[in-house]
Amino acid sequence: MACNTLSTCLPSAQIYPSTGFLSRVKRGIGNASVIRAVVVDRNPSVKEITGFSSLILRKTLTKPAVLETVGRGIGTEKFGRFGGKYVPEILIACLNEIEAEFNLVLRDAEFQDELATALRDYVGRETPLYFAQRLTNHFKDNKGEGPDIYLKREDLNHGGAHKINNAIAQAMIARRLGRTSAVAATGAGQHGVATAAACAKLGLECTIFMGTKDMEKQSSNLFLMKLLGAKVKPVDGHFKDATSEAIRDWLANLETSYYLSGTVVGPHPLPSMVREFQSVIGKETRRQAMEKWGGKPDVLVACVGSGSNALGLFHEFIDSKDVRLIGVEGAGFGLESGRHSATLARGDVGVYHGAMSYLLQDEEGQIVEPYSIGTGLQYPGVSPELSFLKDTGRAEFYTATDQEALDACQLLCRLEGIIPSLEASHALAFLNKLCPTLPSGTKVVVNCSGRGDKDVGTLFEHKRCSM
Ligand SMILES: Cc1ncc(COP(=O)(O)O)c(C=O)c1O
Repeated sequence: MACNTLSTCLPSAQIYPSTGFLSRVKRGIGNASVIRAVVVDRNPSVKEITGFSSLILRKTLTKPAVLETVGRGIGTEKFGRFGGKYVPEILIACLNEIEAEFNLVLRDAEFQDELATALRDYVGRETPLYFAQRLTNHFKDNKGEGPDIYLKREDLNHGGAHKINNAIAQAMIARRLGRTSAVAATGAGQHGVATAAACAKLGLECTIFMGTKDMEKQSSNLFLMKLLGAKVKPVDGHFKDATSEAIRDWLANLETSYYLSGTVVGPHPLPSMVREFQSVIGKETRRQAMEKWGGKPDVLVACVGSGSNALGLFHEFIDSKDVRLIGVEGAGFGLESGRHSATLARGDVGVYHGAMSYLLQDEEGQIVEPYSIGTGLQYPGVSPELSFLKDTGRAEFYTATDQEALDACQLLCRLEGIIPSLEASHALAFLNKLCPTLPSGTKVVVNCSGRGDKDVGTLFEHKRCSM
């Protein structure tokens, strides 16, 4: 049976939002009638309901809260006005179960020991904080002054990116919950590879949804996922479309399947959970900085797709107000071209895939297709927590174009012998603008979120390498 609408894929008793759902909506955004009309009258597709976004809702939003007055701890469901759980009632019990287990494992010594061992012996942590001497020299001015640039080498993780930090931990939660399979969506393929590897290690079946357009660009990761035993299901489109399909698949198999989210978006507790498992990046950075120069970093820079590598690095330092936090989004062909993925720079607030955040959307609240040469940056929404850090001014957000990212990628190859992913290259690209503004000796840490092996086809196409 085709499963195009909630009524065709779920028993009718579960289609209609209960008063619980509506009151949550009300608490979150105060306009339950709009959602009631959409859900009850129009019998929408699962994609439509999980991808809900509306200008009308936006008009009801309250002013952002200040950083100090709003919790951003582990159990936080909302980050100021952002986050929440805007999902059909059928998902609430499942999300609550995951949240309860997540809270348990945080204090469970056995889980923590197993995770620490896996991160050390399987993932390969800790990752180095590498002093990029020649890159540092490159950015010195004619008096020989400039910042010191360090790279947090997440590209050296098993699988080639930061994604495995979270995938292994969530796969362990799935196993504890008695699930036999995991389902995930991937854009650049890095989360797909990480999930496939974690599932193989833990004996879980694995299904990965991937956009057909992303499959073409990231074909090496597609093969790796298959080699690792995952079923890969193609979805017309990109990462956002694959995410909708993965959620649809999960909805149909809630008893046996676990939705292994790869980034800090989606309904609570998914953003907090992924953030928590990625925060190892910042914790290590703090310790390594202390060992290397006896202090904190002055500036942290990370690319922002949906936000997991950025928050992973930033989270440890949010309360250290003397540390600048800088996120760099994909400006694609340029912000004015309309072909970019700069959600924080150019988006408006709305609800998508179950949570409120900044979103790329048109005047009618319809999602605008994101674009970046960094496949993993192409998502129309973004982390609720990063949305909150933008509103409170605690983090700064800038953009880098495709061309700037390609140049930065090539520069790192030539100066340091490191091939960064095109996603991470956006963070590196921002150094061009940042470095001349910094006092000499400023300690800058750039998150090298992944390695660029998967991007050689694109680099070849753009004549950055030849046969
Ligand atoms: C190497 C790499 N960096 C960054 C990203 C962007 O995701 P996020 O913003 O969640 O870190 C991706 C996504 O696939 C990725 O593969």
